[in-house]
Amino acid sequence: MKIVITGGAGFIGMHTATQLLKEGQEVHIIDHFHPYYSPVRKKKHIEVVSQAGSVHFYEHNLLDREKTVELIGLIRPDAIIHLAALPGVSYSLKEPLLYVDYDVKITINVLEAAGKADVKKVVFASSSSVYGEQPEIPLNEEMANGRVISPYAASKWSAESFCHVYASLYSYSVSILRFFTVYGPWGRPDMAVAKFIKQAMNGETIEIYGKGSGRDYTYVDDVVNGILLSLNDHQNYAVWNIGAGSPTSMTRLLELLTKEFPQMDIRYGDHRVGDVFSTWADISKAKQELGFQPTTSIEEGIKRTIEWAYENKAYL
Ligand SMILES: NC(=O)c1ccc[n+]([C@@H]2O[C@H](COP(=O)([O-])OP(=O)(O)OC[C@H]3O[C@@H](n4cnc5c(N)ncnc54)[C@H](O)[C@@H]3O)[C@@H](O)[C@H]2O)c1
Repeated sequence: MKIVITGGAGFIGMHTATQLLKEGQEVHIIDHFHPYYSPVRKKKHIEVVSQAGSVHFYEHNLLDREKTVELIGLIRPDAIIHLAALPGVSYSLKEPLLYVDYDVKITINVLEAAGKADVKKVVFASSSSVYGEQPEIPLNEEMANGRVISPYAASKWSAESFCHVYASLYSYSVSILRFFTVYGPWGRPDMAVAKFIKQAMNGETIEIYGKGSGRDYTYVDDVVNGILLSLNDHQNYAVWNIGAGSPTSMTRLLELLTKEFPQMDIRYGDHRVGDVFSTWADISKAKQELGFQPTTSIEEGIKRTIEWAYENKAYL
């Protein structure tokens, strides 16, 4: 299969590309090294991916509609895994308009380009944030209702809606995957697990926003597995939660980190606006329809991530 991964120089993208190369697929990455976090680090990701096989790389900004249509038309892939986006809830509160560009507009460009290049399959990286603050957990796919609480979430919700539009216009198959707090080696440096490990290694104080919260932390290999399984689905439009399916409280996460870093200094601040309090994915739909089954426990996942951090201190 010839597969385009947009955002393939990012965290989830590099792991997806590596796995696809290992399986003998033809991988084309489109990324423009957005400076949301270090472009040097993203270039390193591409180097790591290349160790798994020969990858085609295009440095291109997907905001350019014409060139995106042209590029994807030239590659003519069987499938597109669209991961490129500006992530991060807190930055979206500062720069909401950027999220319309990087999460909505580029998705429309990719969807249009896919249709024009006769692509059969598009996978879209959505987020658990589209559920907003709900009175009950676990969260199942039917519970999203647009009542989100951050510009990031609003743009993902909107992009999901455009995916539906283009699935109907071009009759290709679109899979919406709602990822839940992904962590692991090469994890995004702005996210809790990666940030806490770095701070603990440097002897810095770790700041926790609000007590008692929890997240359905999902190990990156399990997410990649979900992405790959979705490539085999042929429904015109379908939505799945891709999460661990078992939440970890902040207290438990800190307990696991303290085992490795006993001197860790923790300070509690106020809950951050825009962040939902707790997430917990109901993954029964993905299990039933895709055969999705996460296999990495939080204990094992954190252990592997810390091992990786010690080996790659220069890139934290
Ligand atoms: N990591 C998580 O926990 C998580 C959770 C839910 C959803 N997601 C979604 O999964 C996807 C991947 O997330 P990630 O954590 O790997 O993020 P990431 O920031 O590491 O990767 C995104 C990549 O997209 C690229 N990109 C952004 N705008 C682009 C553009 N206009 N043209 C070309 N490339 C562009 C960036 O340079 C980056 O390399 C994103 O859509 C994100 O919103 C991630």
